[in-house]
Amino acid sequence: MKYDLLIESVKIVCGDSLVSGDIGVKDGRIAMIGLLSPDTSADLKIDGRGLIALPGLIDSHVHFRDPGLTHKEDFESGSMSAAAGGVTSVFDMPNTVPTVTDVARLKDKIHAVSTKSYVDFGLYGGASEANLGEINALSKAGVIGFKTYMVGPSAQNSPEYEGIVSVNGVGLLKTMEATSKTGLVHAVHAEDGELVSFFSEMLKAMGRLDPAAHYDSRLNMVEALAVERAIAFAERTGVRLHLVHVSTKEALECVRSAKTRGVRVTCETCPQYLLLTNKDLERFGAYAKFNPPPRGEQDVSSLVAGLKDGGVDILVTDHAPHTRDEKEAGRTSIWDAPSGTPGVETRLPIVLTMAQAWGLNYTDIARLCSRSVAKIFGLGSRKGSLLVGFDADIVLIDPYAEYTLKASELHTKAWETFLFDGMKVRGRVMYTVLRGSVIYQHGVGFTSKPAGSFIPGPMFMGL
Ligand code: DOR
Ligand code: ZN
Repeated sequence: MKYDLLIESVKIVCGDSLVSGDIGVKDGRIAMIGLLSPDTSADLKIDGRGLIALPGLIDSHVHFRDPGLTHKEDFESGSMSAAAGGVTSVFDMPNTVPTVTDVARLKDKIHAVSTKSYVDFGLYGGASEANLGEINALSKAGVIGFKTYMVGPSAQNSPEYEGIVSVNGVGLLKTMEATSKTGLVHAVHAEDGELVSFFSEMLKAMGRLDPAAHYDSRLNMVEALAVERAIAFAERTGVRLHLVHVSTKEALECVRSAKTRGVRVTCETCPQYLLLTNKDLERFGAYAKFNPPPRGEQDVSSLVAGLKDGGVDILVTDHAPHTRDEKEAGRTSIWDAPSGTPGVETRLPIVLTMAQAWGLNYTDIARLCSRSVAKIFGLGSRKGSLLVGFDADIVLIDPYAEYTLKASELHTKAWETFLFDGMKVRGRVMYTVLRGSVIYQHGVGFTSKPAGSFIPGPMFMGL
């Protein structure tokens, strides 16, 4: 057999074990994992000595801002950033302009982004009481899941939130009744919108303009109460609830207890909740303004424990780019800056660097950053693992390479707002392979034109 690609003599993260051998790729899929004779032929051979092969990372939480807000990011820059970070699939959130709330908008978005993407991509549909009649059709048209915000945007007239916010409890319940019938995952941003409005108005009336005011307007209970409500509704409707960016100990405890009761709920956290605390708001100002905000040390410890023991299911990024000027507006008043921070490119070096401190080994990293993401979203027999027959989405890392993260080297348009500029890391992405083709190589750059494909959700029936 002649392979298209052969990665030789590499350490391979394969399920829960680390094995040494070769990976043979044919027609975009993994055809062989094992020991091949040195004269095996292949169109391309990569010498894997000293490298580790992980399943290509999946980021189920990115905002690539395309269409409509492409001054912040577009699918080309966002997906280049992903590929350079060892990410081979992304799922993009529906808060674009227009929002993805019906099939026509979904088709337009697929059309707008598909020639620009360097990595495979799924798209969320937005869901709220405003588009209940569209939810079934969206699932059949191939959305990867649904997304609802329980809190509205702070700025007035934000078209990117049109039709995807359910602050009112009954609205969310009705929305979950509709999404539960599709069988797809329903991702929920759980912060209590009524409380956020109440506290924000109160703090503004007190004249608070400082960065910590953002934190004070979204205390732990704001997340915990919303998580409790979302879980109660999931319990009633049977929906497959996924809680995005869980940041507090209290919320994680709710999730843990729901899981023990058998509720179909999963949750994620992101590097910014593990590396920063609310004390950093003073230092970073609006650059560390994201929703929910960074928390206290006890919250961080609880999230870190969850990574290892399964309380937290996945570690993704909430890559949420904004321009430097937009963030700078927060210098005079924190209320004037948008929330969000970029991260799709740096999850892997950060988690590799922190692995020991967080008690994670390579198989945990593969589980948290790829395998469980694929499983949650119904792609677990095709992506997220290095197994024969699976898509050959592979990231090769040099685990010993030490270097410094530099904002100016990132590919996101929001590189100037990157929070971890100057962080010393250990573990570098050397190759990113998408369905058998090398798409990014350290020191060389992008080795092909954008070749990412739309990943239809598990209920896809054709466009
Ligand atoms: O910080 C955030 N930014 N949180 C969100 O939920 C939205 C996101 C964005 O789209 O900018
Ligand atoms: Zn988000």
